[in-house]
Amino acid sequence: MRKPRAAEPATDEPADAEEIARYAVAEAVWAPSVHNTQPWRFVSDGRQLSLYADAERGLPVADPDGREMMISCGAALFNVQLALRSLGYIPETRVLPDPGQPALVAQVSWRRRAPASEFEQWLASQVHQRRTHRGAFDPEPLPHGTLAALRDSAARDGATLYIMADDRRRAVLATAVETAERAHRLDAERVREMARWAPPPGSVRDDGVPVTSYPAQPERTDPYFPGRDFAHGHGWGMPPLSSARLPRAAGVVGLLTTASDRRVDWVNAGRALQRILLTASTCGAAVALHSQPLELPWLREYIRTQVSDGAYPHLVLRIGMVIQAADSVRRDPNDVLLALGGGYAGSERR
Ligand SMILES: Cc1cc2nc3c(=O)[nH]c(=O)nc-3n(C[C@H](O)[C@H](O)[C@H](O)COP(=O)(O)O)c2cc1C
Repeated sequence: MRKPRAAEPATDEPADAEEIARYAVAEAVWAPSVHNTQPWRFVSDGRQLSLYADAERGLPVADPDGREMMISCGAALFNVQLALRSLGYIPETRVLPDPGQPALVAQVSWRRRAPASEFEQWLASQVHQRRTHRGAFDPEPLPHGTLAALRDSAARDGATLYIMADDRRRAVLATAVETAERAHRLDAERVREMARWAPPPGSVRDDGVPVTSYPAQPERTDPYFPGRDFAHGHGWGMPPLSSARLPRAAGVVGLLTTASDRRVDWVNAGRALQRILLTASTCGAAVALHSQPLELPWLREYIRTQVSDGAYPHLVLRIGMVIQAADSVRRDPNDVLLALGGGYAGSERR
């Protein structure tokens, strides 16, 4: 969608509120979400945008508490805030503002203005470029200062990004991912649930994980962090970019955590995640995500006590340099935005 005219701090003339809300939602939908479920809906009312979790798009088997759904919504919330900043507005955000409406994740309003910083504009420019990486990385190191910037990104939203500097913790996380992945593949209910979000080649769906976004052959890394079996044995996926037969780099391994484990922490973890992903993207780095072991309560507890010093883990990240060819899909923003008084902004809701 075309970006609305940036706010002019020198004048009092506001840009059209509906146009701004549409723009913010068009940016929000490019947030990452578990299995690309895109579990969100938006309602705009003047200069306020409400973000709701869409339980119909939840994963009752893999994510019964809705933690990953809230992380996904938190990532979308970050994009809304960033879109407003890029237009020169200061977002005022209330997270989980109404205990009587648990699906209401956040309300964001905008009135005051301040020009976006250069860094905010860089982050905003990555929203459509960034893709989840699946596989190994090139051997070249991350640009100087990247990890410090990523740690700082997490801290700004009240989360912590642990970087696994020692081999023991890296190996523990790799084993946890592999153990969980094996367990998931043997769990018929989980396999069925994931298959619903992993459409076959040629699909015209605008959600789920398309075959253009993962490799047909799992790429071995050292240590090995197996990816999800989106192709569920059909051999779907992209041809390999590298002909290397030896294991390639797993990248720098990180763990995103929060000090407590309330719903608000999950939303904050999502905001932190998206800030991390976009910051990495500005540094030319890509990130692979592994939530497999965090979906098994006993393994999550093991990681919490053995790896993250008691902090609650949400996602394993692998960060590295690679040329990416992955592509993803999103629903039309008009299908997820209800303008009060105007119905869904575009075609009928599915
Ligand atoms: C909470 C959460 C958990 C995720 N877990 C995984 C995972 O275990 N494996 C994976 O390959 N991608 C994972 N992803 C990435 C999503 O699959 C990805 O964001 C989605 O398919 C959209 O693709 P994009 O990020 O390239 O736009 C996760 C994303 C989120 C927000």
